[in-house]
Amino acid sequence: MLRTFTCLFFAATATFAADSLRQATPWASGVGLSDRIADHPEDWPLLMKHFAYVTPENCMKPAATQPSAGVWRLEGPDRFVEFARSKDLKVVGHCLVWAKDDRTPAWFYQDGAKPASKEVLLARMKEHIDKMVGRYRGRIATWDVVNEALADGGGYLRDSGWTRACGEEFIAKAFEYAHAADPDALLIYNDYNNELDGKREQMLKLLASLRARGAPVHAVGLQGHYEIDRIPYEALEKTLIALREAKLKVVVSELDIDVIPRGRWWADNGSHHEEMSKINPYANGCPPEILARQAEQYAKLFKLFQKYPDVIARVSFWNLHDGQSWLNKFPWQRVNYPLLFDRQGQPKPAFTAVMKELTTPTSK
Ligand code: XIL
Repeated sequence: MLRTFTCLFFAATATFAADSLRQATPWASGVGLSDRIADHPEDWPLLMKHFAYVTPENCMKPAATQPSAGVWRLEGPDRFVEFARSKDLKVVGHCLVWAKDDRTPAWFYQDGAKPASKEVLLARMKEHIDKMVGRYRGRIATWDVVNEALADGGGYLRDSGWTRACGEEFIAKAFEYAHAADPDALLIYNDYNNELDGKREQMLKLLASLRARGAPVHAVGLQGHYEIDRIPYEALEKTLIALREAKLKVVVSELDIDVIPRGRWWADNGSHHEEMSKINPYANGCPPEILARQAEQYAKLFKLFQKYPDVIARVSFWNLHDGQSWLNKFPWQRVNYPLLFDRQGQPKPAFTAVMKELTTPTSK
């Protein structure tokens, strides 16, 4: 009965919703945006048509907001939050702690000539979180509280100044402090590759431990920075099931599908960097067959997401269109095509395929 109703509902709304992502998705639709979006009215129509949640790409990160002790740079975040309010968009705060040494301003870890003690580091973290979450209380709906704390290649947590001083305690504390500063904000643990076998188990161990400590973790962020032909559908499904069992919500927080394979960049201790940094195969345009393959793979991904509407609370892309993608620069300079919209903000085959998946009743 419900199914019939849903089908009728979709059939009735198909034409209406067929060109707007935010109207077609059963979860919140979001996007990571250049910090200067308020200065770019040409981007607003595309943004408003498809997205309801916005994440600032860089300006809320600790290195941007508190580059040295007590020196705060909040004009960027203030403008971003005000812009979102003026457009009735919800903000994802990103991020309070980035548990990587090259992403944490060095002063956090130092106490004069010696490494900061656990007490000093946690006090600094609390001050940072109080300031950020407190300032935007009621105006930032959800926070990425801790980003990328799990180790790659096995083990448990990533080695960093945080773990060296505090073990895993800093993670629980970060959630406690954030919750105290805004009890209404949805709090997220965010990471990459955390759907993969191995890292998933590390994540589940961390989540169980946080729960045992009573830490207020409400959702898990799967960044979703995928590569064409290497999307881990099965691992992703196992992860969605495991998180449903753990009674946690999932957000796909930074989705994109790179069309230029990049995995080898990190292999063999980085010894391929020089050779890889010359790879730029689609500088004059992306071949239609690659765009078609990307479209198929995006559609398959959304088909999978649609099996878990009770688990997935939001799907956010990382950047608005191909021309703005971070993957044109990271980890080396190349012309990339990872998103649903092209450099003119026009829908790509991937957009059409995703919308078809979302609005065709028979595909449910
Ligand atoms: C990236 C930004 O997009 C780049 O502009 C910046 O140079 C580096 O960070 N995971 C995250 C995001 O959580 O904050 C990263 O954003 C992409 C990977």
